[in-house]
Amino acid sequence: MKALPLRLGVNIDHVATVRNARGGHNPDPIRAANMAVLAGADGITAHLREDRRHIRDEDMERLKRNLFVPLNFEMAATPEMVEIARRIHPHACCLVPEKREERTTEGGLDIIGGASHLRPVIQELKGEGIRVSLFVEPEIDVMAAAAELGAPVVELHTGTYCEAFVAGDEAKVAHELERLRRAAAHGAGLGLEIHAGHGLDLNSVRPVAAISQIVELNIGHSLIGEAIFMGLDEAVRAMRAAMDEGRAQVAA
Ligand code: PXP
Repeated sequence: MKALPLRLGVNIDHVATVRNARGGHNPDPIRAANMAVLAGADGITAHLREDRRHIRDEDMERLKRNLFVPLNFEMAATPEMVEIARRIHPHACCLVPEKREERTTEGGLDIIGGASHLRPVIQELKGEGIRVSLFVEPEIDVMAAAAELGAPVVELHTGTYCEAFVAGDEAKVAHELERLRRAAAHGAGLGLEIHAGHGLDLNSVRPVAAISQIVELNIGHSLIGEAIFMGLDEAVRAMRAAMDEGRAQVAA
């Protein structure tokens, strides 16, 4: 079986984190986005959090004006964010759970318990012509719920897999990869487009890239971290190469 192409979405939130540490304009997340695209990113992802701790409203507006690749707007399903998404009109919106006290998105959306809240948000964004993605745990029943809600895309949360990978817990890595594989296959069978992301780095990305149904990975923190040592251009190229190596296993 020939593998589908695998896109890389580069998340530039933490360029804004560094900028905000000092105030002012540097480093500029839009410059980073353009550099990532020149290095091989297929799209740019940015998360406008309720507390604006990294990306700010004007960053989203500048990204939309300056990018010539798809913009993926990560956001909580709140009236404020829906209004901003309608104004900015990104290519895609990835709906994520958001808690003020968390350091990063800690788990997938509760799309079963939260269906009645999410359904109108999904419909509204779809009505604007925006591609809607749900950031979810890699579980079979969650795939069915996403399809039932009418979302065209799910992004599988790879955080638990990545934590096991970093801890060197081989049994848990195998278990989590199997969850990702089963959810990806089931979701694709239901007609969902499958993305994945959270916590991936140059090493943990390969086995995930080898899951044939996954067509997009969204990666941020580790890339911006590597950029300190090797530069952003080289970090994106290294990630692209690692993804391609993983993907090559599908056709093998
Ligand atoms: N996908 C989603 C939905 C996320 O919330 C995040 C973190 O903002 C990522 C991907 C990227 O995760 P990381 O920065 O750990 O690569």
